[in-house]
Amino acid sequence: MVTESACNSANLSQRSICDERYSAGLYDDRSVPVLTAERDALSNAMQRAVVTFPLTHRISLFDFGYGTGRVINDWIEGQARQYLRSAHQELRLVAYDVSSVGLRIAQERLRAVGYEPTRPVRWETGSAQGYIAGAVRKRQPDVSVTVVFVHGCENEPPDVMRELALAANDGDHYLLTTCLYGSLGHVPGEDLRRDYFRQLSELTSPRGEIILCLSATGDLVEIQPEWSEKLAAGDTGGFPIERHGDLVYDTEIGQQNFYHVFGTELNDYMKSITTAGQRWWIEGIRYPGDEFESLETEQANYRLVQQANERKRGRVWSADDYREFHSIAAFRSPVGPANGG
Ligand SMILES: C[S@@+](CC[C@H](N)C(=O)[O-])C[C@H]1O[C@@H](n2cnc3c(N)ncnc32)[C@H](O)[C@@H]1O
Repeated sequence: MVTESACNSANLSQRSICDERYSAGLYDDRSVPVLTAERDALSNAMQRAVVTFPLTHRISLFDFGYGTGRVINDWIEGQARQYLRSAHQELRLVAYDVSSVGLRIAQERLRAVGYEPTRPVRWETGSAQGYIAGAVRKRQPDVSVTVVFVHGCENEPPDVMRELALAANDGDHYLLTTCLYGSLGHVPGEDLRRDYFRQLSELTSPRGEIILCLSATGDLVEIQPEWSEKLAAGDTGGFPIERHGDLVYDTEIGQQNFYHVFGTELNDYMKSITTAGQRWWIEGIRYPGDEFESLETEQANYRLVQQANERKRGRVWSADDYREFHSIAAFRSPVGPANGG
């Protein structure tokens, strides 16, 4: 049997960092759990997807780096169903993460709001191979909502993630693929990140929607110079610091965690996964500043974000645009009626 340590690379494994973070229970303590701009991004993409696929039986979503499902579960329970039409009888969310602790917390929370396992859910905490752990479902008069848990291993190449994702959706491509709260930023190395972008694109229907919410260069500005200097000096302390935007921050429980904040390279990543009949664009999600202490402060930030998005609409973002934001979202969408074209 292959163990967890065989799967994890020395002290940088996201699986061990996140298992520990979720076990400590402080990670989800955001006072405003879902930002209005995140909810808008999801709802607008869902609206486009149901216009593109009015007759499909199943609306499928793949969430990369799902964690405890903090953002997407709230939206699935609160808003997602209102966009569905009569043909859409199943909403399937495939929850992909390397942390089984996060996924199990999500499973418990979903059970508490009426979801039942479709069959026993099986966890292999230290598995060196990704696998489909199981699923929970809630049947409602209009639609049945299923959440399938896929426990990945980051030491496997990203095409394994794509294969698992497709297997979890009966071989079908996804209508909506998401990454929320910066999960792709934890992938070390430019080549590997590009490969994840490519695989996420390939598991999504060409007419489907992609939303990748990421940290921008306006986030963690206080520690970026330190890591740029270390990179220039060739002394990165064994961390995979390769380029501007790579850094290591301390988590809320004092772990050192690799992260990449995105700038104009994201334009190239998005161009590389966009083909004829599709378009991509960037929108701001959150302006820099402290964690929100109240809905009012979140709303004030949201208004600034909306105004900035309006000013930037229709143009390719520059380095200054990225520096203006704490978080941004990259979108890919088909050209056609759903996009007003
Ligand atoms: C910042 S958390 C975001 C969690 C969640 N999306 C949210 O909105 O709260 C990042 C998540 O990405 C996951 N992650 C990091 N690298 C990953 C990888 N290569 N494959 C899958 N998940 C990964 C971590 O385990 C963690 O749960």
